Amino acid sequence: MKPFDVYPINPINIVKANGSTVWDAEGNAYLDLYGGHAVISIGHTHPHYVQRVTEQLNRIGFYSNSVEIPIQRELAQLLGEVSGKIDYALFLCNSGAEANENALKLASFHNKRKKIIAFSKAFHGRTSLAVAATDNPSIVAPVNETENVVFLPFNDEDALKEAFSTDGAEISSVIIESIQGVGGIREASVSFLQLIRSLCDQYNAVFIADEVQCGYGRSGLFYAQDYSGVEADIYTMAKGMGNGFPIGAISISPKFKASYGSLGTTFGGNHLACAAALAVLEIIQQDKLMENAALVGQYLIDELNKIEEIIEVRGRGLMIGIELPGSLAHVKKELLIKNRIFTGEAKPSVIRLLPALNITKEHADQFLLALNEHVKTVTVA
Ligand SMILES: Cc1ncc(COP(=O)(O)O)c(C=O)c1O
Repeated sequence: MKPFDVYPINPINIVKANGSTVWDAEGNAYLDLYGGHAVISIGHTHPHYVQRVTEQLNRIGFYSNSVEIPIQRELAQLLGEVSGKIDYALFLCNSGAEANENALKLASFHNKRKKIIAFSKAFHGRTSLAVAATDNPSIVAPVNETENVVFLPFNDEDALKEAFSTDGAEISSVIIESIQGVGGIREASVSFLQLIRSLCDQYNAVFIADEVQCGYGRSGLFYAQDYSGVEADIYTMAKGMGNGFPIGAISISPKFKASYGSLGTTFGGNHLACAAALAVLEIIQQDKLMENAALVGQYLIDELNKIEEIIEVRGRGLMIGIELPGSLAHVKKELLIKNRIFTGEAKPSVIRLLPALNITKEHADQFLLALNEHVKTVTVA
């Protein structure tokens, strides 16, 4: 047997990692400004993380949700504090798609409705409802297709008002990434997010903030959506939550009533996952990583804006999209091969930076120097 061949891969075997450096099997060091799709939030092999996960594993790694798991309460308490949503409740699962799946389902249980509003270029995951709410027909299997999901243009206030005025009584939820990731680092406007809030209130629909990629401190705020000044009813999260240990969650407003069996999972909330997530939050808090993300992120954005070959720099904190002209579409690959710098991409030619929240100004400078070289060299030639 061999792995099912669904991933286009770089021929690099990473065998060791520390902070924002990873090493391949030949001993070459790389600067990691991607964190494996925004997953590495506190840096690779952070000593506190390694210690907390190891100690937990030596005590107990897993038991199911049929017994008391006090570490879940500890995690809920700290997440409530760090995110500023003390009165919200926590449901733990294993991935971003599963978090969105549960959020959409909970919304529908709550208001007994079926219609979901999602937006152009949205990415919410690959499971049934999550992928149906993802604006990429090539990953939606026929069995996932549903008329219950309506796509509207991102940031189009008139289209949103129109949808509510015609179908308001049927709309169960609106799901949005306040900063779209896979869609190319595009930010929802403050007024658009505020409009979603007021329409959801008016029509008793549920506002779901997909914070799987943009959340967990990456934008400089715990939830990226906080920049709008309005609260969502449900926040979904995963990626940065476990720094590589698979864990996802939804943070649920007090307006929802829990009932036994309505949501559930075998693995979600296990001891080991909670220890990993607690270690991440402790480091985010102790090392002031949200402040660092805002500071180093703004430095990067300011410096990138000085490079005239770049078409547009988008994003906040350490979630940055660099749109290049088509003639520079190869730069991402060159950064990896020639400079040994990992970055991400979004189609057609956007470089996505999603590094650990504790990268330094020196890491930023290393990237800026390399990017400048490629951009200028190619332009001159
Ligand atoms: C915004 C957003 N939501 C959901 C997901 C799905 O997360 P997972 O791959 O953990 O299922 C992703 C993954 O890229 C994402 O970026």
